[in-house]
Amino acid sequence: MRGDVETIKERLDIAELASGYVKLEKAGQGFKARCPFHNEKTPSFFISPMRQSFYCFGCGAKGDIFTLVQELEGLSFKESLKMLAEKVGIEIEYSPVLAGARTEKDKIREVLEKATQFFRNQLLGSDQARTYLSSRGINEESQKLWRLGYAPAEWRALYNHLSQFGYSKDMLMKAGLIKSVEGGIKEPYDVFRDRLVFPLSDASGQVIAFSGRALATETQPKYLNSPDTILFTKSEVLYGLDLAKEKIRRKNYAVLVEGQMDLVLSHQAGVDNTVASSGTAFTNAHLERLKRLSARIILAFDGDSAGDKAAEKATELALFMGLEVKVAKLPEGKDPADVAKAKPEDWKEILRSALPAIEHFLEKIILSEKDKRKAGKLIGDKILPLMTLLQSSIERSHFVSLIAKRTGIKEEIIWDDLKRVKKSDLTRKTTEVFSVENLTGSPADAVRDGLSPQNLASKREKIEERLTEVRLWVKELTKNSPEANDLKKEEVELEGHLSKELLGQELSELSLALAVAETSKDSEEASKLTKRIHGVLKKIQVLEDKKVL
Ligand code: GTP
Ligand code: MN
Repeated sequence: MRGDVETIKERLDIAELASGYVKLEKAGQGFKARCPFHNEKTPSFFISPMRQSFYCFGCGAKGDIFTLVQELEGLSFKESLKMLAEKVGIEIEYSPVLAGARTEKDKIREVLEKATQFFRNQLLGSDQARTYLSSRGINEESQKLWRLGYAPAEWRALYNHLSQFGYSKDMLMKAGLIKSVEGGIKEPYDVFRDRLVFPLSDASGQVIAFSGRALATETQPKYLNSPDTILFTKSEVLYGLDLAKEKIRRKNYAVLVEGQMDLVLSHQAGVDNTVASSGTAFTNAHLERLKRLSARIILAFDGDSAGDKAAEKATELALFMGLEVKVAKLPEGKDPADVAKAKPEDWKEILRSALPAIEHFLEKIILSEKDKRKAGKLIGDKILPLMTLLQSSIERSHFVSLIAKRTGIKEEIIWDDLKRVKKSDLTRKTTEVFSVENLTGSPADAVRDGLSPQNLASKREKIEERLTEVRLWVKELTKNSPEANDLKKEEVELEGHLSKELLGQELSELSLALAVAETSKDSEEASKLTKRIHGVLKKIQVLEDKKVL
C-alpha cells in the first residue's frame, strides 16, 4: 500500500486535481484559488506543484492530494486512496492484515449497496410501483440513473433477504435498515415498507441512506428517511450531488429544489445541475458544499407560502455566506416536479427568468401590496435586512437605486433606513478564522485571562507553524508580486508575534512562580521575580513601540 501511495503521488499532480474543485490562478511557481474549505472573497489558498501540497493562509487547511480529496469529498484516507488509485488506473494491493480490517463504515456501505440492489429488483417486479412512477412522469432512464427502487409491503422482506448473506441484526440496525419496537420482544422489522425508495449517496456516489415515499396516499409520513447513522447526517446530505457536482462546476451555478421528485424530474428535463435537500431546510453545511463548486445558486421552491418562507430563509443564509442567490418564481400552487413533468421547456424558462433574490422579494411586495405606505414598511422589514448581508457596497447601492426606481422612495431615505436597520442575526455569527489577529492578542491579556503556559505554548506552536509555511511559500512566489509582498509582511509580523509569545510565555511562568512565592510568604524570591517580570514587560513594550506588532 505504501508503494501505491507513492505511485499515485507520482502520477497525479495536485494542481490538476485541485482544478477539478476550484478555479486556479497562476501565482509564482504555483497557483492560488479561493479556499474550498472556508468562506472567502480573495484567494488565500495556495498550491505548490513543487512540493505537491496545499496551504490556506486563511483557515490553515493544509495537506497533499490525499488530504485534499478526503476533506473535499468527505472520505477516509483509505477511501481517498481508492478514489485516486482509480483515477490513475492502478489496483491497490492491500496487505492481508489490512484487507481483513475493513472498517465498520465499509461494511455498512456494502449492506446499503445490497439493499439498493434488492429494492431495485423489487421495483422491476412490482407493477404497482412502476405504474406509480410512470404516473409521476419519471421515465425508465431516470429510474435507472437514480437507482429508484421499491420496498415491498411486507414486514421483513429486506431483513430476511440481507440475513441470507450473513449480515447481523446489529449491522442492519447500524445501517438504519431495520428497527425494533422499544422494549419489545418481537424481531426487528424493515424501516421501509410499501414505499418507493430513493437511494441517497455521498459525493462520490456511494449509497449512504434512503428516502422512501409512501405509495398509498393515506400513509403517513409521506416521506420517510433513514435515521442518522455513522454514514448519514440528514442535515448535510444533498440529494443528487454525486451526479450534479461536475455540472454545477461547469455551468457555474446550482439549482436547489426541495423534493426528491423535483430533483429527478428536473434532471430528466435536462437541468442536470440540480440538487435537493432531503426533507430538511437548506443548512449551512449544504451551502458550504455547494460553494466549493460554484458561488451561484438558484432557489426553486414550491409556489406556495411554505416555499416562499423556505426561500427567504435560504436566501438569508446564502447571502450571509457570500453566495450569489437567485430565486425562481413557480406558478402558484405548483412545484418544480409539476412544471418539469408537464413541460421541460417551461421549467428551463422559469430558471432562466429567475431574479436576484433581493429583486425577487421586492417584486413580490410591490405586486402584492398596492398601498405605498404598507409596501414601504414591508420593504423596511424584509428587504433592507437582506441588504445588510451583501458583502459588496456596489451591490447594495444597486438595490437602493432599484427600490427607489420601483417605489418612488428617495434614495437618501432608503440609505438612512438601511443604516438604521438591525443587522440580521446571522451577521453576528462570524466564522472562526485562523488569522494573525486570532493568534495574537497581548500576552499580558493572556496572563490576565488565565491562559495556562500550556495554552501559550500551543499558541506559539501555531505561530511557528504558520511562520514555517510563510517562509516556504514566499520562496515559490514571484519576487515582489503582491502575494509575495503580503507574505513578506506577514513573516515580519509573525516574527514579532513569536517574540512576543515567547516573552508572554516567560511572563506567564514568572507570574505563576510569583504567586507561589507570595503564598509561601517568600518575600525575597517574590521581589526577585517581580524584578524579572518588569524586565520582561519592558521587552514587550519595546517590541510594541517598534510598531512591529
Ligand atoms: P411528492 O408528492 O412526492 O411530489 O412530494 P411533494 O412535492 O408533494 O412533497 P412536498 O413538496 O410536500 O415535500 C418536498 C420534500 O420534503 C419531499 O421530497 C421530502 O424530501 C420532504 N418531505 C415531504 N413530506 C415529508 C414527510 O412527511 N417527512 C419527511 N421527513 N420529509 C418530507
Ligand atoms: Mn413539492
